[in-house]
Amino acid sequence: MTTSDDRARAGLRESATFDRATIAAIQRAADTGIYDIRGWGAKRPLPHFDDLLFLGASMSRYPLEGYRERCDTDVVLGGGHAKHPLHLEIPVTIAGMSFGALSGPAKEALGRGASAVGTSTTTGDGGMTPEERGQSKALVYQYLPSRYGMNPDDLRKADAIEVVLGQGAKPGGGGMLLGQKISDRVAGMRTLPAGIDQRSACRHPDWTGPDDLTIKINELREITDWEKPIYVKVGATRTYYDVKLAVHAGADVVVVDGMQGGTAATQEVFIEHVGVPTLAAIPQAVQALQELGVHRTGVQLIVSGGIRNGADVAKALALGADAVAIGTAALIALGDNHPRYAAEYEKLGSAAGFYDDFQDGRDPAGISTQDPELASRFDPVEGGRRLANYLRVMTMEAQTIARACGKAHVRHLEPEDLVAITIEAAAMARIPLAGTNWIPGT
Ligand SMILES: Cc1cc2nc3c(=O)[nH]c(=O)nc-3n(C[C@H](O)[C@H](O)[C@H](O)COP(=O)(O)O)c2cc1C
Repeated sequence: MTTSDDRARAGLRESATFDRATIAAIQRAADTGIYDIRGWGAKRPLPHFDDLLFLGASMSRYPLEGYRERCDTDVVLGGGHAKHPLHLEIPVTIAGMSFGALSGPAKEALGRGASAVGTSTTTGDGGMTPEERGQSKALVYQYLPSRYGMNPDDLRKADAIEVVLGQGAKPGGGGMLLGQKISDRVAGMRTLPAGIDQRSACRHPDWTGPDDLTIKINELREITDWEKPIYVKVGATRTYYDVKLAVHAGADVVVVDGMQGGTAATQEVFIEHVGVPTLAAIPQAVQALQELGVHRTGVQLIVSGGIRNGADVAKALALGADAVAIGTAALIALGDNHPRYAAEYEKLGSAAGFYDDFQDGRDPAGISTQDPELASRFDPVEGGRRLANYLRVMTMEAQTIARACGKAHVRHLEPEDLVAITIEAAAMARIPLAGTNWIPGT
């Protein structure tokens, strides 16, 4: 086999601009005449939580003892206007993922896993399934531009409502669900024909600007008797303005989804070239909430997009989020990309750890599929157990860090607990570069 060393010795040099992946993409486009669609989030390197580090306590601050001193993790979401805010035991929630993109048993497992640790899960494009409602103690119901599966009775069955204006993977774009995933059940819930590609709307059909969001939120409150918290979800772009407008419109909770955020099916060019990294979006959102006097009081901030472990959770909270949401990591915890299916991923031209063809509906793990045979491989009870374990580990990791920083509650983490290790991260997160007081741009 020819190695890169052999090629270098032979004087062959790969172009940084036209590297092998770029050449393959051009050839694929030329072969097929079709643009590439895939799942997962942005794969390019971006400034991220790994570019921040915590300053554990030593002399000037006092750490807490891991096994003896408490570090609480609960969070209340949506107390601003709603009669029944959500009380969650941990600040990690499950993001909206559609029934259609995911199998019925996978949605059920998300509910089981979230409920086992006292957190919420969220519906998605395509509506609320009875399995998901049945297994979720706290279920957030998405109200999306497509209105697929929208049912006023389900609004009343939900514990909170999330008005989706955008997603981090595709701000300004709508969803895609290819025909091979539109089973009779999925089609029935969406009141659309089976087997035909569906493209959801990129904006709500009944509004032309932020004032219409105010009207919509009031309608949703009236329908649900002012009981349920109303979230507004935006993809990270002009986050400072979007958060201000969402709060003015009456949101109880703002969800900001950064460009690393996962998707079930979006154009590759969209995923990689539209949006703002999660790290850059959080300070903008926090500034907007602070200027309106509602940060950590009247309105809560949920952040998503590339959250993988307890360190990411702790960093998001330290930057000012009240909670985080996870999508891709939850699917991996359920068993997505598991080495157990390595041979099958290879047959699909992929590999365990690389599989992102959620749009295809041929997922060997039985998660992003509507094929009854594949979906039956997935056990929702076992999936729920795995997800609950993962959520517990994330929470314990965040607590470990919070205690080391001397905090008796994870929400007491603050920007002063962080340093940045790259200039980009320092500028975006508004955190000083390690060993200096320098925040570029301030
Ligand atoms: C399979 C899948 C399906 C999704 N479906 C929806 C959806 O129906 N509505 C929505 O608002 N976001 C949807 N998302 C985006 C998630 O809600 C969330 O914003 C994103 O996954 C967070 O980033 P992460 O995957 O890096 O955790 C989906 C994501 C995935 C991976």
